[in-house]
Amino acid sequence: MLYFRRFLYIITFLVFLLTGFLTLYYGKETFHFNEETKPSAEKTYDYHFVLIPEELDNDYWRLVEQGARDAAKFHNVYLEYLGPKQANNDEYLKTIDMAIAGLVDGVITQGVAEPEFDKLVTKSREKLIPVVTIDTDAPESGRAVYVGTDNYYSGFLAGKALLNDTKGEQKVAIVTGRLEAPHQKLRVQGFKDAVATEKRIEIVAIEESNITEIGAQEAAHRILQQHPKTTAFYGTSALDGIGIAKVVKRVKAEEDLYIIGFDILQETLDYIEEGTIEATVVQFPYQMGYEAVEKMIQLNKGEKMDPLQHTDTKVIYKEDLPISPSSMNGGSKP
Ligand code: BGC
Repeated sequence: MLYFRRFLYIITFLVFLLTGFLTLYYGKETFHFNEETKPSAEKTYDYHFVLIPEELDNDYWRLVEQGARDAAKFHNVYLEYLGPKQANNDEYLKTIDMAIAGLVDGVITQGVAEPEFDKLVTKSREKLIPVVTIDTDAPESGRAVYVGTDNYYSGFLAGKALLNDTKGEQKVAIVTGRLEAPHQKLRVQGFKDAVATEKRIEIVAIEESNITEIGAQEAAHRILQQHPKTTAFYGTSALDGIGIAKVVKRVKAEEDLYIIGFDILQETLDYIEEGTIEATVVQFPYQMGYEAVEKMIQLNKGEKMDPLQHTDTKVIYKEDLPISPSSMNGGSKP
């Protein structure tokens, strides 16, 4: 009996150790803490902000994070970068809810055109936690400020670039991150409006990439199968141009298709350098991250400001390369 009881104690102890280990391990995985996000025991911070992107490991969002981290370090802010590892709306909204429940001093997040998002912004405001939208605005939600590109204007610039860079009839296909995302819709609308006056431009298709490169490749494939006479592509999110370029190189290498993409991730710049992508619309994700943290500090101090804080945007070509790192940081920040 005594042996049996000892045996039971030992088993219970081992189970206790194992559950402790699993809780720590999976807790860490779930909340994606890393050395940079852990608050240090002895350091005290002036504010605690959370930056929530639609996808943590997206190269574009990593640049936003970098800008936000540099500003946070400079202004003594404890910044957490939390969200879904891969784009997932439910997990995204849940992360915002958790941040509000954690009574942080500010939530910086991408705007979503959804009643659920609006409710979260209202909840946040009730707890006196300001919400700054970044990259994508949600003006109806009651957010305090938007920091990011004027997405309609950037789409308009893309349309104007296509008009300037091409001659004769063009059959244009659009690959967009998400058909329902407000900033993607604005980029498409701006583009359509810019080319609307020209009869020679026909938009033959619009397909979704789900903001992944593989999604963009699949979309470009489908388009070329259904519309083999496509002469130009417009990709409206950071990985779309890259996905389109890969497909065009594989199946239409002999035809000189025109591609205009979005953002300046290294692969896009490489494709511009080799001539597969003609042009890309520049955004300043680092600058967005940096400025969002600074605006959030100002909001915490009760300062009033214009709710639209647009960062720069422009179209660049091969002759604009290489781009200096400081210009990628918006030119004005370290
Ligand atoms: C958009 C982001 C998006 C990213 C996807 C960018 O152009 O501004 O909202 O998450 O592309 O790679």
